[in-house]
Amino acid sequence: MRHDPQHSPTRRDFLADTGRLAAAAVLVGPVAEAAPAVHVRGSGKIRVGLVGCGGRGGGAAVNALSVPGAELELVAASDVFAGKPAATVAALKEQFGSKVDVPAERLFVGFDGYRRVMDCLQPGDIVILTTPPAFRWVHFAYAIEKGLHVFMEKPVTVDGPTSKRMLELDGKARQKSLVVGVGLMSRHNHGMQELQKRIQDGELGEILFMRGYRMHGPSAFFRSVKKPDGISDLMYQIQRFHSFLWASGGNFSDFNIHIVDHLCWMKGSWPERAQAVGGRHYRADKDGVYVDQNFDGYGVEYTFADGTKLFFDGRCMPGCKEVYASFAHGTNGMAVVSSSGDCGLPSAIHKGQRPKAGSLAWKSNVPPADQNPYQNEWNVLVAAIQGGKPHNEVESGVKTSLVTSMGRMAAHTGQEITYEQILNCDHEFAPGVAELTFDSPAPLLPGPDGRYPVPMPGEKQREW
Ligand SMILES: NC(=O)c1ccc[n+]([C@@H]2O[C@H](COP(=O)([O-])OP(=O)(O)OC[C@H]3O[C@@H](n4cnc5c(N)ncnc54)[C@H](O)[C@@H]3O)[C@@H](O)[C@H]2O)c1
Repeated sequence: MRHDPQHSPTRRDFLADTGRLAAAAVLVGPVAEAAPAVHVRGSGKIRVGLVGCGGRGGGAAVNALSVPGAELELVAASDVFAGKPAATVAALKEQFGSKVDVPAERLFVGFDGYRRVMDCLQPGDIVILTTPPAFRWVHFAYAIEKGLHVFMEKPVTVDGPTSKRMLELDGKARQKSLVVGVGLMSRHNHGMQELQKRIQDGELGEILFMRGYRMHGPSAFFRSVKKPDGISDLMYQIQRFHSFLWASGGNFSDFNIHIVDHLCWMKGSWPERAQAVGGRHYRADKDGVYVDQNFDGYGVEYTFADGTKLFFDGRCMPGCKEVYASFAHGTNGMAVVSSSGDCGLPSAIHKGQRPKAGSLAWKSNVPPADQNPYQNEWNVLVAAIQGGKPHNEVESGVKTSLVTSMGRMAAHTGQEITYEQILNCDHEFAPGVAELTFDSPAPLLPGPDGRYPVPMPGEKQREW
């Protein structure tokens, strides 16, 4: 299994981060008297369940168990692939010892494993939702029913109907005062937080345009050859979810959402329309013929209500120039938003439109202990639970997911797509996702040649 190192931090990274954080000042105090009604447990201990034991699930669990000044304990885990919960729990146990208490009877394998994990928890505990996004609304709905706080990974939706559903669910979560974090960690990057404030305070002047790039070679499950024997189509597609639009929104949504998100955050609004180009170029090599649904390259022009543009280029091709960063340009200068990767420090402001010697006006300076946004987002989430303070990132998570899907749909259909159009588009990518079992047919079926339907801009009205 090949994973993008930018995408799935390694266990070694987490060990390093945890060490750094242990030395940091205690950020959160003991359980406050004003704890929310749902936090009914007598002790300060918060129990944690994990749904989706992959790269990010393990990483989020490490962050949970590393929150300074908090007593969190992992008690249950589930996945749809046998062996994954046990392997993840064993690695966490090695690192965290008694903070991991997951006996064999609390390791679950199956599509109903999310219920079993959450049934092990009590109101006020936390569930981590780190499966591919297709399952997010199903798992979130049950978490709300059980009165659980939630950390869920991005994207949180991949289409219009599930976005509406998530917004409705968010209303229910708010009614129950549940704390919900969404893994758009740029917003917890302290350098970017300061930059965003400076931009909102007018330091760049009026924003003229923004640009973001994620261009590198093929990574994660960006592309897939025909399904081999010995695995069902459903499980093949879930395992290689970046390749299939129903499971992840494809590589466009999965890879690019962070940069789209933080540039919209800098601007302080959401674009109202998108037009885009994209295409499939190299669809076979020595490994075989690639049958996934992704384009190799995407170029999206988003337009905000005031006419400001956000240009985003995404490409997964070997041998091409690699650029992975984001920028904002205003009437008073320009900003390096992410200097590298999804949200790399430092952020900076320059006089003029081109960073050069002597042009620096400001550069972020974040203390080492605060430099890991994956840890910061957990510190904030747990502090909110302990302090009984509201913290809910669902609405912005859904809107970012939808705006990302809007750019993707514009590229896949070859049409201009508005925010209202993608929100009200009735194409639900995986209508039966809540009822899936190991015997279910996959939401996407291949043709007799083993190839899956792909986007055909200008020919098909829907994305495939
Ligand atoms: N914020 C970030 O920087 C970041 C980084 C990596 C991944 N992610 C996100 O995290 C999510 C998971 O990505 P990943 O890289 O960990 O993928 P992964 O394949 O490593 O892990 C996903 C896990 O979920 C399991 N799974 C799939 N369907 C399930 C279901 N219905 N119930 C239980 N388990 C199920 C899979 O078997 C797999 O073990 C994605 O939404 C991805 O976009 C975010």
